Amino acid sequence: MRVVTTVQQMRDTRTAWAKSNQVGFVPTMGYLHEGHLSLVRHARAENELLVVSIFVNPTQFAPHEDLELYPRDVPRDLQLLEAAGVDIVFIPTPDEIYPPGFVTYVDPTGPLAEQAEGARRPGHFRGVATVVLKLFQVVQPHQAYFGQKDAQQAAVISRMIADFHLPLRLHVLPIIREADGLAMSSRNVYLGSEERIAATTLYRALQAGRLAFETRRADGPLAVIKAMTAVVASEPHAVLDYAEVRNPNSFLPLESLHAPAVLLIAVRIGSVRLIDNFLLRADGSWDVGIAVT
Ligand code: PAJ
Repeated sequence: MRVVTTVQQMRDTRTAWAKSNQVGFVPTMGYLHEGHLSLVRHARAENELLVVSIFVNPTQFAPHEDLELYPRDVPRDLQLLEAAGVDIVFIPTPDEIYPPGFVTYVDPTGPLAEQAEGARRPGHFRGVATVVLKLFQVVQPHQAYFGQKDAQQAAVISRMIADFHLPLRLHVLPIIREADGLAMSSRNVYLGSEERIAATTLYRALQAGRLAFETRRADGPLAVIKAMTAVVASEPHAVLDYAEVRNPNSFLPLESLHAPAVLLIAVRIGSVRLIDNFLLRADGSWDVGIAVT
């Protein structure tokens, strides 16, 4: 496994593999868990050369958000990536990605980037799209792997790939969960022991939402939203940020309950903000993720 820290080194290493038409890429912000590793393992199985990036991207954090506190453990991440058979780990510094004088951003617009998560985190998807396009330009993958955990991020990236005619295939893989349903997240490390128990409220709310979706279809999206909201309201440590039902591609709100749909939830547990979702695919099957035991 090679660790590279500059754009030039990454480009040179990539050029040495120019003949390969199976270069896979998994972008991450590090502090890796089984969710990231499931992307890495899928990508490993499907590609000749596998590149993983670790970069805590400052432009996707608002000034009041947790950029400084974001958990980091590069030595541990490198051990995990080595064991997973990764070829190249790209770990640039913020200056390498945003050198002095940097002014050009990718700014996704409309409901896809400005509603749901985008409404609560203005500028977030601008930062995500900008860094992901830059990483794609440097790594030049044929296939990139993202998690359904960040459903709206995956939709924004999918749209950007289409809008900019990027020659790569996007894979969006299921959410990996703890045994009790909590979606794995680097931010779970901030949860105290009582908060960790309370954090299952997101999964429980989504289950209640799915049940309402299936049994009270005629009542429309409000029945699903109410079912999710009631579960969060019953958990003293949890404060609901939003519970919504949207189209998973456009992120427009649904007016009636039909596939495809995504049930979205964002909750604060103490100072930690967590997001989760269940996806109802166009064929009517649910993707609720995979619990590891
Ligand atoms: P990060 O939060 O580190 O996540 C990296 C990738 O892992 C994303 O595609 C995310 O959806 C996926 N992931 C996270 N938790 C997961 C889980 N429990 N199950 C499955 N996949 C999971 O997302 C980012 O970083 C950044 O925004 C990035 C794309 C790297 C751009 O800076």
